[in-house]
Amino acid sequence: MTGAHGYSEYATHLRELTTAATSGRSGLRHHLLASIDGEASEQLRRLVPLDYRRQVGAFFTPAALKQRVSGILNSDAYSERYLDPACGSGDLLLAASQALPIQGSLKETLEDWTDRLHGWDINSDFVEAARSRLVIAALLRHDHQVQNERFNLNTSKYFANISTKDGLEALKRQKAFVGHIVLNPPFSVVSSTSSQSWTSRPTSAAALFTYLAAHHLTDGSHLTAILPDVLRSGSRYTSWRTQMNSILMRSSLEIYGQFDEHADVDVFLLSAKIVRGHLSESSTAWWDVDSSAKEIFHSVNDFFSVRVGTVVDNRDPLDGPEFPFARARDLPSHGVISTPSRRRRFTRRVFEPPFVLVRRTSRPSTAQQQPRLAGVLINGREPVAVDNHLIVASPRDGRAESCQALLEVLSSPATSEWLNNRIRCRHLTVGAVREIPWSHPN
Ligand SMILES: C[S@@+](CC[C@H](N)C(=O)[O-])C[C@H]1O[C@@H](n2cnc3c(N)ncnc32)[C@H](O)[C@@H]1O
Repeated sequence: MTGAHGYSEYATHLRELTTAATSGRSGLRHHLLASIDGEASEQLRRLVPLDYRRQVGAFFTPAALKQRVSGILNSDAYSERYLDPACGSGDLLLAASQALPIQGSLKETLEDWTDRLHGWDINSDFVEAARSRLVIAALLRHDHQVQNERFNLNTSKYFANISTKDGLEALKRQKAFVGHIVLNPPFSVVSSTSSQSWTSRPTSAAALFTYLAAHHLTDGSHLTAILPDVLRSGSRYTSWRTQMNSILMRSSLEIYGQFDEHADVDVFLLSAKIVRGHLSESSTAWWDVDSSAKEIFHSVNDFFSVRVGTVVDNRDPLDGPEFPFARARDLPSHGVISTPSRRRRFTRRVFEPPFVLVRRTSRPSTAQQQPRLAGVLINGREPVAVDNHLIVASPRDGRAESCQALLEVLSSPATSEWLNNRIRCRHLTVGAVREIPWSHPN
């Protein structure tokens, strides 16, 4: 694989740093601290081409997220052992090590942590880096008391349970794990296997890792995972969520936001206990609807029929009668238009005005005042062909006034807040628009 070995330069640097530090060389503190912080990710970006990083989903957990995971591990039931089945250069194992005590000497701590910390990764340079970084973390925890024993340590013999392996295969084949699995899996897409009973289509490697990790754990064990938001909110993963619910009892679900400034994907943090066959929640509970939303009586679906536009412009033949044609890029950002000026021939379903069009791509809003959604009301007389990058909301009572009310609901701060909670990925689903709480006064 191109770029697979670029990281060996940094793995070698870490090995040499570890040897120097454990043989008593002074003046290394600054380098040691950097090596267990963001440096491993910086070096990943410098040494390993983006193509390879994307191919294997190598995006190491940034410091802020690592702190969050560490907080969960420290507040959760104490675990004796931790496993990261896609451990990269060990950031989540470093978070786990913070939840472990140190022993009377550095040697004893390294022996103890070797028993407790387990990890797999397909890239052997990442594995070597993870082992060195854990030795460094132990060394720093003992900092004030180890001068003399440093000279006698052969650090290469520690962390033998962190090894080069395909984590998906190992989760399927190895003996069940008792303890706590920590997971920031690759988010790449993988093809179907027989173990994916929730889908027959290509799916997210993150869904597969989480599913296998949960099944690899014994009852009473724990799982803490950083996962792409689409697993929490996407309709493609409804069946995955239902299946996860039958084995996981969630202790927390935190919507986190963008992974970091280098990976523009929204993530959430899931922490759960394995309890097979417990009374499972519905898969919609993953949306974490807050209590105020639960009190709301009506949703958009009560007043509007919501569908995706029917024209796939580059595929559908230019046959049949000619209609006004609505495309996302021709529309104003919000407001009212009578009839789109572009026209196209089309043989399938067209939409009778009045109706509201909503763009399917919508970023979670960061600025408080900026609404996440905006609609455009079409109120002319001719039926309109609508591109499939748009969502069409047709009022059940056929009235333009209802469409005006919907424009207000869509752009309200309450809807932005609800939607940022309900779905953080960029592609808005019809399901999410249907469920928007109807907060209009009339
Ligand atoms: C998103 S990174 C996370 C690494 C680490 N857990 C962390 O939090 O920093 C995912 C890691 O999965 C590894 N990986 C990809 N496919 C794998 C597989 N089938 N088995 C084991 N590791 C895999 C990649 O090499 C990469 O290091």
